[in-house]
Amino acid sequence: MSLFGVPKEVAVGTAMLGVAFAAGMLAGKRYPSLGFGTPRPSIIGKSSALQQYILDHSLREHPVLKKLRLLTADHPYGKMMVSCDQAQLMANLVKLIKAKKVIEIGVFTGYNTLNMALVLPDNGKVIACDINEDYVKIGKPLWKEAGVEHKIDLRIKPAIHTLDDLLAGGEVETFDFAFIDADKESYNEYYEKCLRLVKKGGIIAIDNVLWNGRVLKPRRDDLATQSIHRLNEKLLRDARINISMLPMEDGLTLAFKL
Ligand SMILES: C[S@@+](CC[C@H](N)C(=O)[O-])C[C@H]1O[C@@H](n2cnc3c(N)ncnc32)[C@H](O)[C@@H]1O
Repeated sequence: MSLFGVPKEVAVGTAMLGVAFAAGMLAGKRYPSLGFGTPRPSIIGKSSALQQYILDHSLREHPVLKKLRLLTADHPYGKMMVSCDQAQLMANLVKLIKAKKVIEIGVFTGYNTLNMALVLPDNGKVIACDINEDYVKIGKPLWKEAGVEHKIDLRIKPAIHTLDDLLAGGEVETFDFAFIDADKESYNEYYEKCLRLVKKGGIIAIDNVLWNGRVLKPRRDDLATQSIHRLNEKLLRDARINISMLPMEDGLTLAFKL
């Protein structure tokens, strides 16, 4: 036994993994979930060797996506970007259900938008909602470089207005997948509108449902946490959907419309 009661072999192994991880980072294997961002609750731990192992053994990232990820990592708000493994899970779901029409609420530099566009058929569409064109401008040239720009319908205005436009335009129950990842105070409204827009059998993915652990004890003056927590409680009892709440990144709820 060595220091802290950890067997010597384990301590040496852990130290070696730490060195390997640092070397990987220096060699440019920079994953957003490890390089920056606020610490988030995770059963594995964001900067652990196991988390690195998961990425090393599951991430299949398109080269243009990688380029956008590294570009976004240098942005002052880079930590807002969805993690690459989470984006990959959602793209796999989009592919699995043979989605044609998807909505992204909160685009930022467009990493997840690009990932979804890459797996959609050529006549597929991502309705990409954001209010900040400056963020989106960073990713847009890479949408073109990846050859999927024609599948992305960018709407720069409050997402609620875009969702209302879609509803008023007769697009009720025509979408296959929606990803909610913008201002937290509007989460309930986003969910209700997406539920009308998504078909039966479609999926609504809701990000940040653990909100860095703050949902455990929402403060009265913390409207974002209150909003997320209220929605989490509502979804548990919502008979219109089946749900899974995944401890991935900052918490991801998948709502399957019945
Ligand atoms: C966490 S980031 C989205 C990350 C993105 N999903 C990704 O894959 O990297 C949140 C985004 O929501 C946008 N946003 C905030 N309020 C919004 C609103 N009312 N309507 C639309 N977008 C909004 C912000 O401009 C920001 O780009």
